[in-house]
Amino acid sequence: MTGPVLAVDQGTSGTKALVVCPERGVIGTGFAEVRPRYLSGGLVEVDPEELYASVVEAGRRALAEAREPVVALGLANQGETVLAWDPATGRPLTTALVWQDRRAESVCAELAPHADELRALTGLPLDPYFAAPKMAWIRRHLTREGVVTTTDAWLVHRLTGAYVTDAATASRTQLLDLDRAQWSPRALDLYGLTGERLPRIVGNAQPVGTAQEFGQEIPVTGLAVDQQAALLAQRVTAPGAAKCTYGTGAFLLAHTGDTPRRGSSGLVSCVAWNLAGRTSYCLDGQVYTAASAVRWLSDLGVIKGAADLDAVGGSVPDSGGVTFVPALAGLAAPWWRGDLRGSLTGLGLDTTAGHLVRALCEGIAAQVAELVDALESPLETLRVDGGLTRSALLMQTQADLLQRPVEVSALPDATALGVAALARLGAEPGRTAATALPDWKPAAVHEPRITADEAADRRARFRAEVTALLDRTPA
Ligand code: G3P
Repeated sequence: MTGPVLAVDQGTSGTKALVVCPERGVIGTGFAEVRPRYLSGGLVEVDPEELYASVVEAGRRALAEAREPVVALGLANQGETVLAWDPATGRPLTTALVWQDRRAESVCAELAPHADELRALTGLPLDPYFAAPKMAWIRRHLTREGVVTTTDAWLVHRLTGAYVTDAATASRTQLLDLDRAQWSPRALDLYGLTGERLPRIVGNAQPVGTAQEFGQEIPVTGLAVDQQAALLAQRVTAPGAAKCTYGTGAFLLAHTGDTPRRGSSGLVSCVAWNLAGRTSYCLDGQVYTAASAVRWLSDLGVIKGAADLDAVGGSVPDSGGVTFVPALAGLAAPWWRGDLRGSLTGLGLDTTAGHLVRALCEGIAAQVAELVDALESPLETLRVDGGLTRSALLMQTQADLLQRPVEVSALPDATALGVAALARLGAEPGRTAATALPDWKPAAVHEPRITADEAADRRARFRAEVTALLDRTPA
């Protein structure tokens, strides 16, 4: 069935909805803010009802603007945010523990002797970032009632009554047997989650139910993790290319083909998508704080917001010897030290806001450069998207430290467009991914402007600070 689709990107700090028409592109947009609570001790939680209300509000706004019926709905989710809920009523039984939440560190500590086994089985290292440690924590500390799932399963159930999760989201739990793309009894056993009623794993583009909330009946035909949806929209559909999305965090994903590749470099191996029964895999690396580090600098009054980065950073030629490891919520791949906190060194009486901004840009870009190295495969250019790509300073810094061109996507909402493509594929069997995707062309290309030696020096300085942090805080 052809016609416009409604694509909903339910993210950490808001829900974006687009109505995407095959011929005319985006004909309606809607946004609704979500306010996670950042509490002491690394706790990050959000009211599930706020998530659901934001999906409905953003979707209705986009539909009101488009003023046309849609033939399908696609939903992208945050990946590793979890809650317990009552399947009989759809009522949440707990707050939602956001992917950044660190409270399940105790669960991971107990499972440390099984870390290698879990990694071999699921492709994921043991870290509270993933869903299973949080699910186990909820079962131990909050409730044994109802079901405990990632947010997608709950949202889709609320919208349609179906109880499903897609293969890619399932691969972010650490409960999925990665080779078979099925729930792993052994992982469930290790986490003490045997006997849980888990959602049925479905493909990323297939009908799963009908949503009634939007003033019209809309078949839900596309589901995805937000990062994987952006990977698809960036047309990274075969090995050899990668994308990085600079949102709340920064997430580097590289397609690895039809078999999972388990590198030794600390990257996460997971499902990119399952289309028409065929599973594709990707490697994934994370910088936990990108836009949230910019927000932190804004909260301190150093800048007014992300739009200020280039003006303030442009007031000085370099970081003035300041090095910032913006590990404000710990470090993910390749270090996997979520317990670490950031550091700011080299401060002097002459340090200005401009130096701090440049040091922050370098800190984010240096981490992404480490992730690209960890891919252990040649990469000619990096495709990038997300709100922070509007900062030419950050993107230039990225190209400089990577020593490769950085191609900024012309698609401001890559995640939503990716899940729109999945919804279209699910609604129109027979269509190919290539014809469901928007054209890809960069809005800007940043070429490296510093020498390889200078890039190596700057990265070595950053690495030395990370090493100092690791030495100061033994695991
Ligand atoms: O892994 C978490 C990530 O996918 C969340 O993305 O866009 O909500 O910051 P975003």
